[in-house]
Amino acid sequence: MTPKTFKIKSFGCQMNVYDGERMAELLSAQGMSAAGDGDEADLVVLNTCHIREKAAEKAYSDVGRLRRDDGSKPLVALAGCVAQAEGAEAKRRSPMIDIVVGPQAYHRLPDMVAEAVRGARPVDTDMPAISKFDAFPQRRRANPSSFLTVQEGCDKFCTYCVVPYTRGAEISRPWSDIVAEAHALVDAGAREIVLLGQNVNAWTDGDRGLADLIRALAAIDGLERIRYTTSHPVNMSDELVAAHGEVGKLMPYLHLPVQSGSNGILKAMNRSHTVESYLATIEKMRRARPDIALSGDFIVGFPGETEEDFEATLQIVDAVRYASAYSFKYSARPGTPAATMEDQIPSEIMNDRIHRLQERINTHQLAFNRSRIGVDTEILIERNGKNEGQMIGRSPWLQSVHVETDARPGEIIDVTLGAAGPNSMAGAVREKVAA
Ligand code: 5AD
Ligand code: SF4
Repeated sequence: MTPKTFKIKSFGCQMNVYDGERMAELLSAQGMSAAGDGDEADLVVLNTCHIREKAAEKAYSDVGRLRRDDGSKPLVALAGCVAQAEGAEAKRRSPMIDIVVGPQAYHRLPDMVAEAVRGARPVDTDMPAISKFDAFPQRRRANPSSFLTVQEGCDKFCTYCVVPYTRGAEISRPWSDIVAEAHALVDAGAREIVLLGQNVNAWTDGDRGLADLIRALAAIDGLERIRYTTSHPVNMSDELVAAHGEVGKLMPYLHLPVQSGSNGILKAMNRSHTVESYLATIEKMRRARPDIALSGDFIVGFPGETEEDFEATLQIVDAVRYASAYSFKYSARPGTPAATMEDQIPSEIMNDRIHRLQERINTHQLAFNRSRIGVDTEILIERNGKNEGQMIGRSPWLQSVHVETDARPGEIIDVTLGAAGPNSMAGAVREKVAA
């Protein structure tokens, strides 16, 4: 029976969230509708992540849990990076799975659903030259802050990372497609657009780079804020740094993963930047935009990481004074060069290091938030807070701000920032004073 309702569960990065939204639009254009919260769906798409931990095992156990109490099951599509990595093997490992669809093949999902209804178990993990983006329908719904994927894939081959294998080579979407999608998102209610890419600052079309794209998008009426993530230190061009000082709509926030503060480890990771080149970029950025909030990613326990290497990581955290940062225990990914390196780090040491690193990061997060107390700024309201009458918005520095207001999602309001915790701040509405 052709499915009438669907549910898409996305895990992992923001690019999966974006892909999930586009798959939902594609299925809706076929006449299907999204199942309500708590309702059962005829088709479930698990949009998986493969970056860390026991990703494949988790995906298979999530699939197993889709069996209903009466023994029946929905049509199950395994999508995302686990689907890409496992391919046809997924069908052998779980008879529950009807469709295996990799991240570059989503445009084929409706056809694959039709094939599955006829009893086939289609697999598509090709990375075709034709773009899945061309098959997605025009955007008609948007969140106040909406994602827009501009670049996919990665050619950097950091030795720990599966992304070059699951998302394929670096490709940039064409300029005109992105501008058209941005207009459609703004027409549908977006006030902020977050440009996404595994190496978003490597985006290029002809001789134009991300800074040119940002300047063009800044000219769109109704679009108030622009962000982009995730950037690679080697692609942080002077033009992009300069844009932070010149384009008012470009928010003062930069996520620039460094991964480690030790040059030896960075080399073993094949990061192609050093601690010194990274810090020089940060300094340039601070000169262009002194209030910029910096964010990063860290991996602790990469093979061969000594206590001295780890302490160098703590030092770079202190040197940059991150406004926020994410840290992960190294996880050996099958097929990556680091997985077979000597001197894998025991889990007790990793646990100790991640704990110390997170404490240090928290100290800086709290210090950054405290430094904003008393600052008058604007927040973009995104959603309801926990308490009656409370809403949650984002400051330009991407802090979550809790505020009592009757403003609705999508409104940008003036607030004075108040009490600060490590992960959020309070804000008080500032009445506009008549001129
Ligand atoms: N183990 C742990 N963390 C990883 N990341 C990527 N691959 C791994 C891995 N094998 C982290 C990096 C990257 C973030 C998205 O995930 O810090 O920036
Ligand atoms: Fe993975 Fe490195 Fe590419 Fe980032 S730059 S996606 S960490 S290989």
